[in-house]
Formats: sequence, C-alpha cells, structure tokens
Amino acid sequence: MTELVQNPALDATADNTGKDHPMWSSRMAFILAASGSAVGLGNIWKFPYITGENGGGAFVLVYLLCIALIGIPIMIAEVMIGRRGGRSPINSMRNLTRRDGLSNRWIWIGGMGMLASILILSFYSVIGGWALAYIGNSANGLFVGASTAAIGTMFSSLLADPYTLLLWHSVFMLLVILIVARGLSSGMERAINILMPLLFVLLLVMVGYAMSTNSFAEGFAFLFQPDFSKLTTAGVLTALGHAFFTLSLGMGVMMAYGSYLPKQVSIVKTAVTVSVVDTLVALLAGLAIFPLVFANGLEAGAGPGLIFQTLPIAFGQMSGGILFGSLFFILLVVAAITSAISLLEPLVEWFEEQQGISRLSATLMGGISIWALGILTILSLNVWADVHPLGMFERFAGKTFFDLFDYATANLIMPLVGLATALFVGWFMAKPAAENEFDMGNGLAYQSFMFVIRFITPAAVLVVFIYNLS
Ligand code: PFF
Repeated sequence: MTELVQNPALDATADNTGKDHPMWSSRMAFILAASGSAVGLGNIWKFPYITGENGGGAFVLVYLLCIALIGIPIMIAEVMIGRRGGRSPINSMRNLTRRDGLSNRWIWIGGMGMLASILILSFYSVIGGWALAYIGNSANGLFVGASTAAIGTMFSSLLADPYTLLLWHSVFMLLVILIVARGLSSGMERAINILMPLLFVLLLVMVGYAMSTNSFAEGFAFLFQPDFSKLTTAGVLTALGHAFFTLSLGMGVMMAYGSYLPKQVSIVKTAVTVSVVDTLVALLAGLAIFPLVFANGLEAGAGPGLIFQTLPIAFGQMSGGILFGSLFFILLVVAAITSAISLLEPLVEWFEEQQGISRLSATLMGGISIWALGILTILSLNVWADVHPLGMFERFAGKTFFDLFDYATANLIMPLVGLATALFVGWFMAKPAAENEFDMGNGLAYQSFMFVIRFITPAAVLVVFIYNLS
C-alpha cells in the first residue's frame, strides 16, 4: 500500500474495503490518458462542424481564449480535487469536505458530475457505433461515386434502423468494457499506450492526404483567418460550451483520473500539456477535413452531417478514397474509445469503493447499465422520434430522450458542475491543501490561478449558463 503514503489524502480517509488504490505508472501515462479522454468525437466531429457553422477563424480565436481562460483553470481545479480526495468524484468530495469541516452539500459536485458522465456515455457510445459502421461502409467502397442523395440516404437509413444501431452500440460498449475491466494499468494504460500513438499517426496521415489536394491553403485560411463579421453571440457561447466538452470537464472524469495521479507530478504542467494536445488535435482535424470538403466543392457549414455526409462524398470522389476514408473512420473510433473509457471510469471507481465489489463486477454493472440507457438514444432516432418525455414543459417541447440527455448535460450539468468546482477550489477548499496540490509555491502563478478561478471562470460560466436558459 505504498500509494497510501504517496497520497496524503488517503491516510485520514482510507476506506475499509481493503483494496489497493492503483496509480498511473508515470506522468506520461497520465498525460496520455487525460489527452485520450479529451481528444474524442468532440475534436474530430464537433469542432470542425461548429467551426464551419460559425464561419471559421474568428470562432477559432474565441475558442482558444476559452480554453486558456476557463478550460485550463477548471481542469487544474478538477485534478486537484481528485488527487487530494483520492477516490471517485463523490467520495473525493466527501473526503475533502469532511477533512476541512465544510458543508457536505458540496458532495453533489461529484454526484452530478458522475450523473453527467453516465448520460453522456450512453449517447456517446451510440455515435461511436455510427463511426464503427462507417469503417465498414468506407472499406466496402460504398462511397465510391455515390451521389449526394445516396450518401444522405446511407446515413438516414442507418439512423432509422434500431437493430443496426444497437449492434454497433453494443460492439462499441463491449470494447470499452473489455478495456476498463482489466484495471488501470493492464487495461487502460495498456490500451491507451497503443491507441494514442495510433491516433496521432492516423491524424498526420490524414493531414498529409489533405495537403495533397489543391485546396489545402483554402482549408488553412478558413481555420486561421479571422473574419469577425461572422462571429455571433451564440458563436461565442458555443465556443465556451465546447471548451468544456472537449477538455472533458464538468463530469467528474478529470477528478477520477486525478485520483490516480502520483503526488510528485505537477498538475499545472500536465493540465496545460493536455489542453495543448487537445487543441492541436482539433486544429489538425480541421486541417484534415476542410481541404477535402473544399477540394470537392462541398459546404463547410453543413452542421453535424459534416463528417457522416459531406466527408464521405469527398472520399467517394477522390483517388485513394477507400483507404483514406476507412483510415479516417478508424481514427474517429480510436478517439471515441479513449474518451469513452474515461467516461465509464468515475462510476466504476465508485462501485469499486463499495465493500465486496471487484473491478470486473464494477465494470459490468456500470457498463451494462449505461449500455441499456443507450437504447433510449437509439430509439429516439427512429421508433420513438415522436416521444417527448418532458413535452409538457415548453422548454423541452419536441425533445426526444437523446435531445434531453444532450441538453441536460451540455446546458445544465456541465456548466453547473464547472461553476461549483471553480467556486469550491477558489473560495472554500482549505488554503494549505490548494497550495500543496498546485505545487508551484504561492507566487505569481498561484495568485493568477486563484484570481482566474475565483472571478473570471465563474463569471464566464454564469453568463453562458444564464444565456442558455433564457
Ligand atoms: N472530451 C471528449 C470529446 O471531445 O469528445 C468527450 C468527453 C469525454 C466529454 C469525457 C466529457 C468527458 F467527461
């Protein structure tokens, strides 16, 4: 139990399950795992399409600001709580509040975050399933020479077919369960050590392919030339919301991963590294995608269909389209899996903390429940497309289960948890504990962090929260 000595949080609060608390094997292991969590569908699917919808460069600039001013401080705060608490998000918050004599109402930060991770994984896995299905579609040459209408039909018939969706959702969840069940080092670290390098290589191959088109410069300009006339208030808010999602914040995930972080690793440096990696991947994904879209005379602002409808048309028209199309969807699946394992971890860690529950049972209980919840998302896309569970409230009129899960996590839980985390670390967490976890003395870096997390971050999140609700 050397970890108990490494992690000062645990000696006072060790639970009585008699289980060892594992740790990431190195700083690099944590960076890869946290980057794996951050880099996902958000980077490769969502970032390019919201950038397309919001006109490119100016939006990217605002997004970068949001990452720096709001994303990085909240990531630092979450990892600080996780490492200090040394347990699942709920129990870490319980440990911290108990030790410092704070109100136990703060524990809901952990609970709400975990609830969000459950809801998100239930639909994230369904979308991961679409990507799995598209590897096959591409490899089988279904995009080659297909008309825009045919590719549109391919996508809409996938969404209309609950059995196919269920099949791919199940395959995706099974992969995630297999990795998580084997534990931190022989499951997650091992998988991440293979998947993350693969992801980087695939991404670079895709960027290289995009460079071989004659529209690379156009794609580059679209991403990096700011045109502020195209930026709207809604665009700014989208950028902030996405900064949360893409860095995996407000869901207990960084707390759970932080609980396995050895004491000697600097939280600030790793959080900055992870955010930079995540941002680079999003930008590279943009550089891989937009040149292909422009080279084939397609629309950059196509919305969520950019990856599943616009891009396949491009692959179908280009030489090498079968190979590069398949590689692209493999890249998407790899990115989604490393995020999905991080979404399952908080719940599994919490189950494991209960007496008599092994890692395997914890993973099966968590994984199967979330898989079952995913069926609601599948049905929302077809058979239950007209079922609106909260239709009696005007705000939720017309929203399916899937829409509600997405809405509740993105607009309510994530910002609320982010806000509460910032307030907790900025104003309530015991000073010595915060300073100790921050681990860079109490000089300028600490003072700046405290200023941002006390005032700037909460104010920014509050503005978005209120705007989204009004
Ligand atoms: N950050 C992931 C992405 O960009 O796709 C998604 C995600 C993973 C969100 C884990 C939240 C989370 F807790």
